[in-house]
Amino acid sequence: MAEFEVLERDGLGRLGRLTTPHGDLETPALLPVVHPERARQPWAPSELARRLGLRAVITSAYLTWRNPELRDKARQVGIHGLLGFDGAVMTDSGAFQQHAYGSVEVGAEEIERFQEEIRTDIATVLDVFTEPEAPFEDAERALATTLVRARAARGRRSGLLAVPVQGGAHPALRGQAARSASGIGDVLAIGGIVPLLEQYRFSELVGVLSAARPSLAPEAAVHLFGAGHPMVFALAALYGADLFDSSAYQKFARRGKLLFPYGTVDLAAVREPICRCSLCESAPLPEVRGWTPERQEPHLALHNLLVSVEEVARVRQAIRDGTLWELAERRAAAHPALRAALAEAAAHDEVFEPTEPDSRRAFREIGPASLERPAVRRFRHRREIFTADRDSARALPRVPLVPAFLGRVPAEDRDGRPVHWAVTTPLGEVPLELSEIYPVGPYLGIDEFRGRARVPSPEALTQELARLADLPSPGERDWTAAWTERQIRALLTWQYGRSAAVRLTPALQGERSRRTGRLRFVRADAFPAFVIGNDGLPRPTFRGARLLADALEPGRCRVVVADDAVPFAREGRSVFSRFVLSADPALVPGASALVVDPRHELLAVGRLLLAPHEMGRLRRGVAVRVTAHARAPDGPEPEEEGGPGPAAIFPSGAPDRDGRASPGDEERFP
Ligand code: GUN
Ligand code: ZN
Repeated sequence: MAEFEVLERDGLGRLGRLTTPHGDLETPALLPVVHPERARQPWAPSELARRLGLRAVITSAYLTWRNPELRDKARQVGIHGLLGFDGAVMTDSGAFQQHAYGSVEVGAEEIERFQEEIRTDIATVLDVFTEPEAPFEDAERALATTLVRARAARGRRSGLLAVPVQGGAHPALRGQAARSASGIGDVLAIGGIVPLLEQYRFSELVGVLSAARPSLAPEAAVHLFGAGHPMVFALAALYGADLFDSSAYQKFARRGKLLFPYGTVDLAAVREPICRCSLCESAPLPEVRGWTPERQEPHLALHNLLVSVEEVARVRQAIRDGTLWELAERRAAAHPALRAALAEAAAHDEVFEPTEPDSRRAFREIGPASLERPAVRRFRHRREIFTADRDSARALPRVPLVPAFLGRVPAEDRDGRPVHWAVTTPLGEVPLELSEIYPVGPYLGIDEFRGRARVPSPEALTQELARLADLPSPGERDWTAAWTERQIRALLTWQYGRSAAVRLTPALQGERSRRTGRLRFVRADAFPAFVIGNDGLPRPTFRGARLLADALEPGRCRVVVADDAVPFAREGRSVFSRFVLSADPALVPGASALVVDPRHELLAVGRLLLAPHEMGRLRRGVAVRVTAHARAPDGPEPEEEGGPGPAAIFPSGAPDRDGRASPGDEERFP
């Protein structure tokens, strides 16, 4: 079970690999619905594969079974032979037809056996499609039936099995469905959502996803039945959807509609060449408008699929770039119903928090909704904790944390009492020392372009500070060193808590970049202990990890690996998920952690790809990308050869040299 691997991620959104007998699928992936009868399909699957690089399709086992000719042929040559397609084929069971047309004359066991006979790659259990309007008792009964069938199917099938997750609009049932399906299926397929998609009830869709997602096994691929309009892909991917399927490309084409990520366009109204996809390039849309419907339909279907495949690729790129929320916000502009759905999603902290990364390369404000992203909500929440026992802070314009400014900002009043400064940012008031960390540091919003956030000159700042009577006058003292120490303590407090920061700070010295004046390194005995990334957060070197190991309570910030993996972690190789015994549940993806053996000896320091609750459950792939490791048996630790440049120590955001797992890596494990 669980032939799924997570390669990259942005929150719940993940770039994965699903291994099937007919090749690996890079996810998120779109599985176009193809009709098993060639004559009913405007484009042969092989033609779609050739034109779009498609590696997978979904077709109906039920429609194949219902037609005696197709049934016999599929039994003889397999579903791949019938479709003339050698990529991965997922088959659906007929639940949707049962729902749409009242009854299916096939039993659950029979259609499952048939899927086995036609050698499908991913078989689907015959579920009971449950409408969003279904009363609780009906939905509960239907769910019970689906689950009984799913368990029976699992007993009969060793290949990949998709288990539908039903439950209607009832959160408790969706949660139960997700939990139960998770113990059974390799693919967990959220079902019963077609009415929500067709009627633009995206907020209700978000309700369904929010109820199901936390209970879906992280090691299974998540499929969304009927999600085929490209404008919903980014939203769905935010919830960790890995597979989409849809006949939308055909259905909309039949009605003369063009799909775009920004909405639907009626061809009848198109007078301009608004698409330049490879197809519309050769036949401009105003010209296509004049064609007969018979000629139009396959053309529009292909355009729709091209655009959809492109959008899925964009979603994958956004996951790599850490910009999935930005993409979802842009897509939400397509329709108010989507905006409502995104607002609803952002309110579900409990869904996103466990996998929300500690930083991203950038934070670009798309609109007011950007201030509700999980990154911002977490920052605000933690800021409350950070400032809870502080006296009130004085307001300061936002200034760069470099000596030209900091040297002039008094850290103490005339009586030697600490003065706290808060700077105004788009995220509200933020302590000066924290104003460069993610998301506030990299925040790029409209204020930046309206002159509001313009940085005062050092001279203007001096003049402003000179007016405050109880402070030492400007020029009396250079405050840079005091701020450097405070900044170090603040960053360590933010990351590791107050008591660890108090313990660590006295032994540390900050080093500012000669070029920019920014805090770049924190040294202990002249050796780098922390590197401050572009996200403003301190990342421990191996020496820093040793200090942390002494300063943090046992368990804190640790990932414990099995003995089998110890030699590999110690020599700097990534830690694979299946060797993780336990991890501090407070860690999040992207966070730096101490990799230790079962006796808690420090082996390495690395950054999490998986959240703690996912480690060990995914049987494949990397859990922690090691960034620095214990002394090699012969030779010095590379990082301790006296002050390397930042690039040598894994600048934030850049992948580390051990970051990518190759299958060879894994095979070298015992
Ligand atoms: N196709 C669209 N919705 C569904 C569903 O809920 N279950 C199944 N099996 N197929 C679907
Ligand atoms: Zn086009």
